[in-house]
Amino acid sequence: MKHAIIVGASSGMGREVCNILLSDGWKIGIAARRESLLEEIKASCPDRVEVMKIDVTAPDAAERLLSLAERMGGVDLFLYSSGIGKQNSRLDTNIELATIDVNSRGFTAMIDTMFNYMAAHSGGHIAVISSIAGTKGLGAAPSYSATKAFQNTYIQALEQLAYMRGLPIRFTDIRPGFVDTDLLAGSRHYPMLMDKTRVARSIVRAIYSKRHVKVIDMRYRMLVSAWRLIPKWLWRRMKIQNENTTP
Ligand SMILES: NC(=O)c1ccc[n+]([C@@H]2O[C@H](COP(=O)([O-])OP(=O)(O)OC[C@H]3O[C@@H](n4cnc5c(N)ncnc54)[C@H](OP(=O)(O)O)[C@@H]3O)[C@@H](O)[C@H]2O)c1
Repeated sequence: MKHAIIVGASSGMGREVCNILLSDGWKIGIAARRESLLEEIKASCPDRVEVMKIDVTAPDAAERLLSLAERMGGVDLFLYSSGIGKQNSRLDTNIELATIDVNSRGFTAMIDTMFNYMAAHSGGHIAVISSIAGTKGLGAAPSYSATKAFQNTYIQALEQLAYMRGLPIRFTDIRPGFVDTDLLAGSRHYPMLMDKTRVARSIVRAIYSKRHVKVIDMRYRMLVSAWRLIPKWLWRRMKIQNENTTP
C-alpha cells in the first residue's frame, strides 16, 4: 500500500485528490486547519486515513508534519495544496503579507521538511498545486501571482538540488487555471471555470505519470503560451484588473 500526505486536504482540489487516492487504495495523511472537515474524510475510510491539524504558518508546523509522517510509517507522495489568494487592487498590505505567509513561508516550511525527510529515507515524490498565475505579475493580485512564481521557481530549484545530491526525489508542479473551489467563492463569474473533480483527476494523472510541470487544462496551456509572447512593455499597459485574476 502506498502512503501519501496531503497538506490542504480539508477542501477544494486537495480534498478531491484525497478521495481519488483513497479509491485507488492509498493510505493518506491529511492536514489543514479545519480539523472537523478532516475528520469527515477520516470517517469515510477510518483504516487508511490519519489526521493532523496543521497551520502551515505556525511555528510548530514542521514538527507536526514530521509527526504525521512518522505515524504514517513513511511517505511515498507529498502533495502541497494549501493556499490563499485575494484580489487586492487597493494594495492592502495585510492581505499581501498574509498571502506570503501561507503561499511562500508556509510552503517553504512544508516542502523543505518533506525534502529533508525523503532525503533521509528512501526518496519520494513531492507535488505542489501552484497556479498559472505565476506566469506573469498580475496587477490585481500582486502577492498571489508573486508567491505562485516563487513556488514554480522553488520547485525547479529543488529538482536541481535533488539531482546534484543524487537523491531519488521527484517533483510535479501543477498549474491549474480557474477552478470552482472555496478559493473563488463569493467572487463574480469566472471565465473557463473548471470542475474541481475533473481537475483532481488530471492532477492524479500528472502525478502517476511523473510529469515535471502540468498546466491544467488545454485552454489554459494555450493562454499561458500566449501570455509568454506578450512583450513586457505591452504587459505593463494591459488593464487586467477586474475580479477574475487569481487562478
Ligand atoms: N481555485 C482556483 O481557481 C485555483 C487555481 C489555481 C491554483 N489554485 C491553488 O490551488 C491550491 C488549493 O486551493 P483550492 O482552489 O482547492 O481552494 P480551497 O478549497 O480554498 O483550499 C485551500 C486549502 O488550503 C488550506 N489552507 C489555507 N490556509 C492554510 C493554513 N494557514 N494552514 C494550512 N492549510 C491552509 C485550506 O485548509 P484550512 O482552511 O482548513 O486550513 C484548504 O484545505 C491553492 O494553493 C490555490 O492557490 C487554485
